Amino acid sequence: MLRTHTCGELRLSHVGQEVTLCGWVQTLRDKGHMIWVDLRDRYGITQLICQEGVTPPELIRQVQGLGREYVIQVRGCVVERVSKNEHIPTGDIEVQVQACTLLNTSQTPPFLVADTTDGGEELRMQYRYLDLRRAPLQANLLLRHQVMQHTRAYLAQHQFLEIETPLLIKSTPEGARDFVVPSRMHPKHFYALPQSPQLFKQLLMVAGVDRYYQLARCFRDEDLRADRQPEFTQIDCEMAFATPQDIQHMTEGLIEYIFSHIHPRAALQPFRHMTYTEAMQRYGTDKPDLRFDLSFVELTPHVQAQGCPLLDTAELVLGMRIPACAHYTRKQLDALAAFVKQPDVGASGLIYVKYDTQGHLKSSVDKFYTPQQLLAWMQTMQAVQGDLVLLLAGDPMSTRQAMGKLRLQLGDDLGLRDKSQWVPVWIVDFPLVEWDTATGRYQSLHHPFTAPQIADIPLLHTEPTRVRAHAYDLVINGFEIGGGSIRIHQRQLQEQILGLLGLDKQEADQQFGFFMEALDHGAPPHGGIAFGLDRLCALLKGEEAIRPFIAFPKNNAGRDVMAQAPAPIAAEQLHTLGIKM
Ligand code: AMO
Repeated sequence: MLRTHTCGELRLSHVGQEVTLCGWVQTLRDKGHMIWVDLRDRYGITQLICQEGVTPPELIRQVQGLGREYVIQVRGCVVERVSKNEHIPTGDIEVQVQACTLLNTSQTPPFLVADTTDGGEELRMQYRYLDLRRAPLQANLLLRHQVMQHTRAYLAQHQFLEIETPLLIKSTPEGARDFVVPSRMHPKHFYALPQSPQLFKQLLMVAGVDRYYQLARCFRDEDLRADRQPEFTQIDCEMAFATPQDIQHMTEGLIEYIFSHIHPRAALQPFRHMTYTEAMQRYGTDKPDLRFDLSFVELTPHVQAQGCPLLDTAELVLGMRIPACAHYTRKQLDALAAFVKQPDVGASGLIYVKYDTQGHLKSSVDKFYTPQQLLAWMQTMQAVQGDLVLLLAGDPMSTRQAMGKLRLQLGDDLGLRDKSQWVPVWIVDFPLVEWDTATGRYQSLHHPFTAPQIADIPLLHTEPTRVRAHAYDLVINGFEIGGGSIRIHQRQLQEQILGLLGLDKQEADQQFGFFMEALDHGAPPHGGIAFGLDRLCALLKGEEAIRPFIAFPKNNAGRDVMAQAPAPIAAEQLHTLGIKM
């Protein structure tokens, strides 16, 4: 190695030793008679010092010529610092420079390469290799590496085999659009990149593998958000001869194992279960953040037919009790009203009732209701003096969703979303399908290979949207971390479900013939789950965006702004592929 130690390694115990370090010049402070250099590598920062009278003048001149992000090798003696820096582990020492070799120069970086930077995200993504030199991103890479190692260790201990599945495949629907790859050898034919390895992991169960996992790259062409990338990684698992409880139990073990290593004193609360219906009714979302317990109450019958046009005409009126917030000011309430009216929240307005500590009631609909009527609402809401009650009204789905968003906003405002707490919940009993008005078809809530609950199979003919799926999502702190299900393992039922989704027998055979044939060859009962690795890493750090946990992510428009992909390809390449634009 070109170095004897790393830049994060030296302590008081090394004082007196001669060492050689390599790294990048983060900062250089030149006081004329004294020069300090912060030398950085992946492990930390070590202060170098040159002093008039101690360091030879030509060496001082050489060090003075160094620029930011120059790569150097330095030999020197470890000395105790006069003024120590308790913020960094190497803060007790510095290295008195005796020799310096320039390994490479650097252009002036376009932003500050330090823990706190001045660069905008787009610029930092363009120079991702510089951004990744910063300690917070190095820590993210390390965390991701550790999560992957712990995942492998846990699953291997439980007899799961790590098996890779192909990336050039025939499309498997997971609810997004496919990225496709043209085939040169088969003109007019395309591979799809996997949205997940769903069919392959099921085929591995047919193949007798019994327990499979993979850290699988998945590709989905869909609108991007903070927690969504077009290219992401799943911890993908499948088990044969397993019940939903077996799969949940096994994966709870995995999550606990990861948490216990990353956050040994983590407040990971016990795994709860909640039905999809309850989650939607109480929290307005199928991924409730249960770190705080604000929830909704249906007030529709209690508020109607009393002359308030907005509430009288609404299909659903929801109330949410905010304990001890009756002191909210006009300004605060106006801000909440503006929040719910934003297009992505979608409510038409917000109604409030303040039930103050003296027992007085003040409301934005005072003129329609008597104090007795408002008091009756408070009783229905189980509100006590000092509480604030907020109401939204409208059609059921959008009112629930808007209230769900308002709930999260209040959770943030009131500091109820504690980053050092993790509250997991399994959401179960999802509907198998929902009606999609845009396409005029039923579509799967999970994917078409999810088994319906046996008791509900007769409803497939009569009321398909009431059929519950054998599916379960793992939600932690309002983040959908994973989703899975028991699968259909018999051809007849699989054909029936594909038929319900609008695929006739011929289309089903054309798309999934190979898979149904496998079901006909002794497919065992099986099920599985996949976790979003990127999301799990973000969650472990208490963050929402997954980009900082991916070495080379895409921007919000799905572009790699560093390499400039996607990009046009040469005419000749198009010709070879038989493609005309
Ligand atoms: P699902 O589509 O629910 O299930 O995906 C599983 C988990 O993957 C993560 N995830 C994503 N993470 C980042 N960016 C994305 N675009 C993205 N999409 C999904 C989420 C999600 O919970 N084959 C099934 C699993 C199964 O049934 O076993 C599947 O892919 O954390």
